[in-house]
Amino acid sequence: MDGRDLVRSVKVVGSAGAAQGLMRVRAAWRRRRADAAGLPARGAERARVPGAVRGVEPGPGGGVVRFARSELRVMVAVNGAVFWGWDGATAEPSYALAGGCPEPDPRAVLEPDTDGGWRVVAERVTVAVSRHGAVEVSTPGGVTLRRELPPRWWEPVGGGAARWMQRAEVAADARFFGLGGRASGPRLRDGTYRLWNTDPGRAFAPGDDPLYITMPVQVVVADAATHLAFYDTTWDGTLVLREGEEGAGSGHDRPGTSEVRADGGPLRCWLMAGPPARVLHTWASLTGAPALPPAWALGHHHARWGFGDEQEVRRIVDGYRVRGLPLDAVHLDIDHYEAHQVFTVDKERFPKLPTLAEDLRREGIRLVSIVDPAVKAERGNAVFDGGRAENAFVREASGRLARGVVWAGESVYPDFTHARVRAWWGGLYAERLAQGFAGFWHDMNEPVSFTAFGESTLPRSARHDLEGRGGDHREAHNVYGLCMARAGYEGLRRLVPQERPFLFSRSGWAGMQRYGGTWSGDVATGWPGLRASLSLVLGLGLCGVPYSGPDVGGFDGSPSPELYLRWLQLAAYLPLFRTHAALRAGRREPWEFGDEVLGHARVALVERRRLLPYFMTLAHLARRTGAPYVRPVWWGAPEDRALRDCEDAFLLGDALLVAPVLGPGADRRAVQLPRGRWYDTVTEQVYDGPGQVLVDAPLSRIPVLARAGAVLPVRGADDGLELEAWAPRRGRSGGGLLMPDKGDGWDEPEVERYVSRWEGRQVIVEREAEGGAVAPSYPVRVRGLG
Ligand code: GLC
Repeated sequence: MDGRDLVRSVKVVGSAGAAQGLMRVRAAWRRRRADAAGLPARGAERARVPGAVRGVEPGPGGGVVRFARSELRVMVAVNGAVFWGWDGATAEPSYALAGGCPEPDPRAVLEPDTDGGWRVVAERVTVAVSRHGAVEVSTPGGVTLRRELPPRWWEPVGGGAARWMQRAEVAADARFFGLGGRASGPRLRDGTYRLWNTDPGRAFAPGDDPLYITMPVQVVVADAATHLAFYDTTWDGTLVLREGEEGAGSGHDRPGTSEVRADGGPLRCWLMAGPPARVLHTWASLTGAPALPPAWALGHHHARWGFGDEQEVRRIVDGYRVRGLPLDAVHLDIDHYEAHQVFTVDKERFPKLPTLAEDLRREGIRLVSIVDPAVKAERGNAVFDGGRAENAFVREASGRLARGVVWAGESVYPDFTHARVRAWWGGLYAERLAQGFAGFWHDMNEPVSFTAFGESTLPRSARHDLEGRGGDHREAHNVYGLCMARAGYEGLRRLVPQERPFLFSRSGWAGMQRYGGTWSGDVATGWPGLRASLSLVLGLGLCGVPYSGPDVGGFDGSPSPELYLRWLQLAAYLPLFRTHAALRAGRREPWEFGDEVLGHARVALVERRRLLPYFMTLAHLARRTGAPYVRPVWWGAPEDRALRDCEDAFLLGDALLVAPVLGPGADRRAVQLPRGRWYDTVTEQVYDGPGQVLVDAPLSRIPVLARAGAVLPVRGADDGLELEAWAPRRGRSGGGLLMPDKGDGWDEPEVERYVSRWEGRQVIVEREAEGGAVAPSYPVRVRGLG
């Protein structure tokens, strides 16, 4: 033990309680020993680059270009996405891809380029491969989107996984977004971003990186086009980003750069380009459609770590009811478990959980259960015994069960990279359903093992099935949460086939949207945490995960009434709208902050409920098109540079622009508007974009602007559907969509398209139908008439 580890161990024993503390010290040692014995020693390495081109072999959508010391497969798919893989890497197997590799574009052919290189010309992109292995993707008009320099590998002399590095250049004016959930964005400034899912172990703020969801997915927005690049490897790595500079040294542009380094795994990349909406559509067609939440999951959720018992839950629900505050779900955290063990219930404090669930459901409130992956390693624990019989748990290289420490103490971890284990785990949700739970909150699945020192996760040498291929935690770590989500989702599909599964997961990876959403994790209470909340939702949306949201009020400590209110006002416009806090944190009920806050909070909660049909429509659109509900303001105009740099507002669908208050003491704020006319949805004041305007932001509300011409479905006074239309500019028209949804189940509603236009001195809203426009079957309310 070195000195620092000793100090850390003593501290941990002191702070975590003696028994847990000692366990954490032991776990750290166990982990270190396991890796010392089970990981290949890092010995001498040989560096390699592709070398000079030797020949080609045309194939579907492109072909293989051979170099002296490697080969490169290039394929343009029918959906316009480009794939390339070095050293024989193919698109599969991949944890990200949903329906396998898309079909190659039969019209894309490999042909000789100038200077001894080769290129593939397709309808939407040209991919040029230089004779030393640089890969350049450009638009049909010849503008370069991305230039990947020849990669470099470092191979262990004795064999084993090769490390690699891939450097790319993008336009000097480009901005980077994505990389999963990052607290410091949404615009990713110059810096190093790690690719290793990590529980920061305490409440995080914008400076903390990495967090629970990392993804080698970057969205690059430049004048020429928007593109998404995905390096499909699950291994640990880093990404160094550097924005470019126009007219740098002697008037020449300095390109932006992205440098990826990975500890192993295939060197392969997907790239898709075009307007943002098309990029995200292609990404969703590659990695899967976002799961459709049931309608109730788009309402307001109240959670807390430390609801003492059933009575407390009932008191809170009553508190919402008597004050006329909408509530749709209550979440039970680990404290409702028997001694923190997953798939159990503390019968003393929650003796009649199914009855509680039933009573709540009669009021339209669903119960959601936390589900942690770690299983207490103790004979007599049914999940442990069952899992052992199934050989379900991750083992060390020595063959022993890999043990870690979580809330319940010494624990073992299901190997979700094994189909049989996923099926077994998915079956366990039957116990939760019998308790009356309707939704599931996956936590601690980075996965976490509390260790006194070293990384708080499983040993890197721990063995995983990896769908039969076999491998270790270095490769499985980043997809552990993704595979757990799959297990839960598929289990629920089998157990309750008529219902849409609702689950959201703290950790995950590219493709996790197929199974559900996520939340911000333990965001620190404070104005920086509020900002980070928005950064996470926007970044994840651009990585294909449209459903997420923060802990309203922040996870730890006690927000000031103003901060709490501003957080609630923001979250009322985010897909997951959930109040949550830690065991020892202050209260988060809207009535705990005085009457003024309560009044304003009620307005936000009621408005969210009113917008439910719009949210449901956005959920359907996300599933069909990959467009996130919450979009950066540049979504429709990526060429507007001021919008590209705007980080404090967002578009909610096509119709609304939300400008949250992210700092104290504001009563108005500047808003960067995209082109067109916008209305303040409360005062109906008119603003014209593009450009910056100053908008009222009193404590009672955050600015929400509606696009002129927009038609959005809302809940009317009698709870029926209503169409809210915002007057188009004179002489212009507008419109909007509605997906009528039954709230749950698998019906595929048909899109209803509405148009708004002036007719004489009136604004008319009509539904597009075969054979012409018809009158809408819902009441219409036109606003913005002045
Ligand atoms: C983790 C989760 C948090 C939860 C707590 C106890 O910190 O991120 O949301 O309340 O564990 O389960």
